[in-house]
Amino acid sequence: MKTKNLNVVNNKLQLGKYPLESLASKYGTPLYVYDQLGIESKMDIFEDAFRSSKFKTCLVYASKAFLAPYFCNILNNRSWYQDATSIGDIYVMLESGFDASRIVYHGNNKKDSELEFAVKCGVGRIVVDNINELNRLIKICQKLNQKVDTLFRVNPGIEAHTHYYIQTSLLSSKFGESIFDLDLIKKIVEVYKHNEYVSLKGFHSHIGSQISDEKSFVENAKVMCEFTSNVSSLCNYPLTELNLGGGFGIKYLENDPDVNLKHMLSSIIETVEASGLSLEKLYIEPGRSVVGDSGLTLYTASYVKKTYGGKNYLFVDGGMTDNIRPALYNAAYTVENASNVSGEKDLKVDVVGRCCESGDIVAKDTYINDVKENDCIVVYSTGAYCHSMSSNYNSMLKPAVIFVDDDIHVVSRREELSDLMKLYEK
Ligand SMILES: Cc1ncc(COP(=O)(O)O)c(C=O)c1O
Repeated sequence: MKTKNLNVVNNKLQLGKYPLESLASKYGTPLYVYDQLGIESKMDIFEDAFRSSKFKTCLVYASKAFLAPYFCNILNNRSWYQDATSIGDIYVMLESGFDASRIVYHGNNKKDSELEFAVKCGVGRIVVDNINELNRLIKICQKLNQKVDTLFRVNPGIEAHTHYYIQTSLLSSKFGESIFDLDLIKKIVEVYKHNEYVSLKGFHSHIGSQISDEKSFVENAKVMCEFTSNVSSLCNYPLTELNLGGGFGIKYLENDPDVNLKHMLSSIIETVEASGLSLEKLYIEPGRSVVGDSGLTLYTASYVKKTYGGKNYLFVDGGMTDNIRPALYNAAYTVENASNVSGEKDLKVDVVGRCCESGDIVAKDTYINDVKENDCIVVYSTGAYCHSMSSNYNSMLKPAVIFVDDDIHVVSRREELSDLMKLYEK
């Protein structure tokens, strides 16, 4: 939804002192625009509410939501951690000057070469997915004669109310091992016990994404504390850390449930404190909730096509290449005419892009006011999983990314036609 630094001046939307139309014409559309003050105030909420006097708390930003060197610097300056899902993510972070010891490296199928890269870089924690990966990691550490600290990913079987494709914690999930498979968990801890290179600091779980119901997080915290303490005493192995993953929801539509982030975070802390588990470090990994609702995408409208069949299409100059989420999992967005805010929103349209796919939809069955050619169309809450999932399908050029506070910061330039040729041999 609308970020709090967006306001209406002369019937047009502006972010801080910058009219969206002028950003669109200066940097071209599509354009990803981030309200930096909005992001920083979200980070403040995390820093204020996710604290404990009993253990250290670590905020791990889930970089899969949006990764860019400019933002790595903001995270680094505020001493946040970052999660990485590939050595590509790690590479971008390190090239940006991000502290390797604050990188948490994930992935259900890491290659030996990638594990070796991560160990050599000195990433803070490797989150091991399965026993095969653990054994390969041990061999790599032996070869390099280097020690590494890990977390082990488990699956607590908690069902969060969210879309199926972004649930990662059902019993048949591809991520981690089930907490109910105690024989396997004991075997894994035995492997850790009998080698000097790889240490198990604790477990990691992530129950899904875009969850607005606090109960799922509290349940996950309870289950994971109990599980950690059981395994620790069953295997006589100290487990001093716990990572509860991310998944905190945001509002995409007016009717989406409100999310009381502050309360959710305090409830997680209270649950872990009350569990009696003696911890040194508690991690969470928010992605979407840090950047999602402070990002928006600007497009230029060209034409409203009214079809014979009765459906209306608003054509914009972007689409599934800059926002794949509607096609991928029916994500819904709020759209507004930034060039003309007032006026009855009485035209039902599908806002569609320019790709050669009928699934190339930015917003389905949405209502908009009278749109004129070249109006600036804004889609709210596109800060997470849009830029990071963007593609060059149909040889579309990737949009620029700007962060706006009192100034405008170009975080990534718009692609040019010549960029399309950079990997090809002629
Ligand atoms: C392991 C892990 N941690 C954190 C996240 C971040 O989730 P979100 O952006 O919903 O907070 C994800 C998202 O898929 C994830 O897989």
